Amino acid sequence: MKGCDGSVLINSTRNNTAEKDAIPNQSLRGFQVIDAVKSAVERRCPGRVSCADILALVARDAVSLISGPFWPVPLGRRDGRVSNSTEALSQLPPPLFNSTQLIASFASKNLNVKDLVVLSGSHTIGVAHCSSITSRLYNFTGRGDSDPSMDPNYVAALKRRCSPTDANSIIQMDPGSSQVFDQDYYTIVSKRRGLFQSDGALLTNSVTNAYVQRHSNSSRLSSFLKDFSDSMVKMGRIGVLTGSAGEIRRICSVIN
Ligand code: HEM
Repeated sequence: MKGCDGSVLINSTRNNTAEKDAIPNQSLRGFQVIDAVKSAVERRCPGRVSCADILALVARDAVSLISGPFWPVPLGRRDGRVSNSTEALSQLPPPLFNSTQLIASFASKNLNVKDLVVLSGSHTIGVAHCSSITSRLYNFTGRGDSDPSMDPNYVAALKRRCSPTDANSIIQMDPGSSQVFDQDYYTIVSKRRGLFQSDGALLTNSVTNAYVQRHSNSSRLSSFLKDFSDSMVKMGRIGVLTGSAGEIRRICSVIN
């Protein structure tokens, strides 16, 4: 959470609880893919390519493989030697943030309001656990109510999928096309069917609302894909270690 230094890949040890084991990161998976790429690269070119660069490249490739954009990834990141679960908790925006909180959280990482609405578009892929929306569905203000800003029909449908005590079931964020990188997210959010408060919150700021409305049509796909590439490159520059800072880890899950 210091930035793009591969610290999220590090395993906890007896003396240290790493970012990986922080609650908001517990659904992260696919570490074995990074490990496989790293071993292949180390065999050909030992000690040269950081885990942080591999992670940025794999993220780009994963998006491209599911119809998303392809962007050149600036390289040369080095790997951090610190991974602290409390930092992940304090720095990752939770799904119940409103637009003011989201904008501040992104600004603290040098990302602007446009980056916020563009990068949120990645919720066109993937899944969430019921636990991430329990309070939105069942206890929004502490009185057994649900978030009135969400389409009531969608609230009802989600309640059928997620009981109040169900922490483990998963739901697609873009139902039906959660493995295709398209602009559906904006269509969903414009219909007040964004899964998290942070998704719905994009309707409450004039800049993000205008972006959502403009991109809620498939004719705007290429505009979104271009914006997404630009914001990913920008996000990939957060807290990068260069020169003699950090190290090139030999195994991505372990500090050298
Ligand atoms: C704007 C602030 C954001 C918030 C509050 C947020 C919150 C969340 C939450 C709560 C989940 C579901 C976790 C679970 O229940 O398992 C999730 C999933 C996901 N988020 Fe975000 N997110 C944000 C921004 C981003 C950004 C910037 C990206 C990448 C560019 C991103 C990519 C994803 C992806 C791909 C998933 C699906 C993961 C999976 O399938 O397991 N999110 N997000």
